[in-house]
Amino acid sequence: MNIKTIILAAGQGTRMRSVKPKVLHKIADRALLHHVYDTSKQIQNNSIVIVYGHGGELVKEELQELDVDWVEQKQQLGTGHAVQQADKFINGDDKVLILYGDVPLLKKTTIDKLLANVSQNSIGLLTVDLDNPTGYGRIVRAKDGSVLKIVEEKDSNDKEKLITEGNTGIIAAQGDLLKQWLSKLENSNAQKEYYLTDIIEMAVNDDIDVKTNHPDTQDEVLGINDRSQLAHLERVFQLQQAEELMKQGVTLRDPARIDVRGKFDGIGQDVEIDINVIFEGSNTIGNRVKIGSNCILKNAVIGDGVEILANCIIEDAVVGERSRIGPFARLRPQAELASEVHIGNFVEIKKSTVATGSKINHLSYIGDTTVGSKVNIGAGTITCNYDGVNKFRTVIEDNAFIGSDTQLIAPVTVGKGATIGAGSTISRDTPENQLTLSRSKQMTINSWQRPVKKS
Ligand code: UD1
Ligand code: CA
Repeated sequence: MNIKTIILAAGQGTRMRSVKPKVLHKIADRALLHHVYDTSKQIQNNSIVIVYGHGGELVKEELQELDVDWVEQKQQLGTGHAVQQADKFINGDDKVLILYGDVPLLKKTTIDKLLANVSQNSIGLLTVDLDNPTGYGRIVRAKDGSVLKIVEEKDSNDKEKLITEGNTGIIAAQGDLLKQWLSKLENSNAQKEYYLTDIIEMAVNDDIDVKTNHPDTQDEVLGINDRSQLAHLERVFQLQQAEELMKQGVTLRDPARIDVRGKFDGIGQDVEIDINVIFEGSNTIGNRVKIGSNCILKNAVIGDGVEILANCIIEDAVVGERSRIGPFARLRPQAELASEVHIGNFVEIKKSTVATGSKINHLSYIGDTTVGSKVNIGAGTITCNYDGVNKFRTVIEDNAFIGSDTQLIAPVTVGKGATIGAGSTISRDTPENQLTLSRSKQMTINSWQRPVKKS
């Protein structure tokens, strides 16, 4: 049994007031359409067709990596017309699932229940009980409870308007039946559109059972039409992810104040995350990691027992076990710290490795550098890695001690166990185990007097 998923994504989305097609707006840094795609990708034996229209080239360009067939709906003549455009991809023995590209939070478990209702004698319809059904098609049922038809709000009478069971638009049917019904759609209605919903009445006339199921929450089937709904579903989605993390054994000081815009390749036990932390891309977090407030982690690998204090930014970087970072530290791409490294406030590390037990605690820039183990880098140390044209490497060997306010002019090597006197400008390699400093001699001018103000 093959499943064919048709995702309708041709609508314009005028209420977004955007030059961007609606389905490219994002939740958690992922296009709405991409969310729908991700969910349908979880279905076995499934192939996907996307019906695009408004701004379609942009949609295809941005989402070209999706494994789908694209089909254009040149004019938006209704949901039924949209599905008709995909007719050539539908085989008679497929189970066809219709999804909307602007309904991002529909769950796989809800889809499974819908598909289970599809057979040669039955079609599946996802409906929802609504507090306010305005704008939705209404599910009209017979006295015995069986579904008779869907009536669009604009075509409904006063009695039908009182119905609170709404059509989500999400439907599944056997391919051969759907193809027959699609070929019979007409647009003699209030909106002069080809309504997909008309297939329900056709099914009833053909003695096909309409079986309904419901989502767990209304948010699951909420379609995004404006920025307010976009913001609402962003929070719903973030809260779902927060719940998931807590289930996995993560402590969140406030599940409403964490944003995960991507995924975890792994997250350990007894991790503690303070408020306003943002995770982007793919992060790996070890056991017992503590992350302070206002940190941003992007594609970071954080080892067991690491403590990240408040206000750090870590991107494409690796932090070894039991290291301590921040507050206010920045680890840039290719910063690789071994275990028990201390990086303190206002320290920036880029494209550098720092071996076990080394400390860079205050106000430093370390770029294109290899730092050995047990090195101590004093406050205000700068690696001068750039001459305006080329970048050069600095090497600081094990057990070196760099005095405060030192500039290391690359390429340069500080030998094992070397000590650099504070305030030095080091432009040549320094020998192992010795003190090197470059500093003009201090002097005192005995006869000098402070100027006094002339009257
Ligand atoms: C549709 C349903 C309505 C349901 C509502 C749920 C029909 C006739 N009506 O209403 O019963 O309660 O969804 O939100 O099906 N689309 C296209 N091409 C088109 C028209 C729409 O691709 O020509 C896509 C849109 O991009 C969107 C989806 O289909 O993803 C629904 O379109 P929308 O205009 O929101 O549906 P409604 O007519 O409001
Ligand atoms: Ca709609």
